[in-house]
Amino acid sequence: KSIVVLISGNGSNLQSIIDQCQAEKIDGKVVAVISNKQDAYGLTRATNASIPSHVVDNKSFADRESYDQALKNCIEQYQPDLVVLAGFMRILTPEFVRFYQGKMLNIHPSLLPKYKGLHTHQRAIDDGESEHGASVHFVTPDLDGGPVILQSKVPVFADDTATDLAARVQQQELTMYPMVVSWFCNERLSMQADKALMDGKPL
Ligand code: GRF
Repeated sequence: KSIVVLISGNGSNLQSIIDQCQAEKIDGKVVAVISNKQDAYGLTRATNASIPSHVVDNKSFADRESYDQALKNCIEQYQPDLVVLAGFMRILTPEFVRFYQGKMLNIHPSLLPKYKGLHTHQRAIDDGESEHGASVHFVTPDLDGGPVILQSKVPVFADDTATDLAARVQQQELTMYPMVVSWFCNERLSMQADKALMDGKPL
């Protein structure tokens, strides 16, 4: 299966997916990496792995619709089976999301439906949560609200800073995201009527 990965930053999740494809743990290939930020370190990771990369800079577009059209044009050169959002920090239009319905995944650093949106680690600490984590889900027009496929939990310790907690969560992300991508590439995952299915059964 061919995979296009969208990033905005460091790209540690991108790296873990590239590594697992190269190790043949994922029956797929990252065919392109697209960033909305010129300085995203993930672009260097793509170059190091000889993967084509593109910057589609949101600053060059007047509105969300024209940006998403340009992003779609860039993605469609590759006709991917799967679009992976890996730290891609932009809200996508419903039209764009519907076009990739059932073939676009996201990872969110919280135990959804808790803590949608930004600053999830600090919010979990402020609320005195004893557990936190990350979720991989299909993308639907409902921001961070698409059906969850897999979650991983970590403990929150009394003296944790948001940075400590983020590091603990990100460690989990690096194993859980490639796992979900491998299930998708093996055609075990699908989405029907906004529900995630694994081997044809509701998750
Ligand atoms: C991850 O924590 C992800 O959950 C969030 O952004 C971060 C991306 O990190 N959406 P990286 O760019 O993959 O290193």
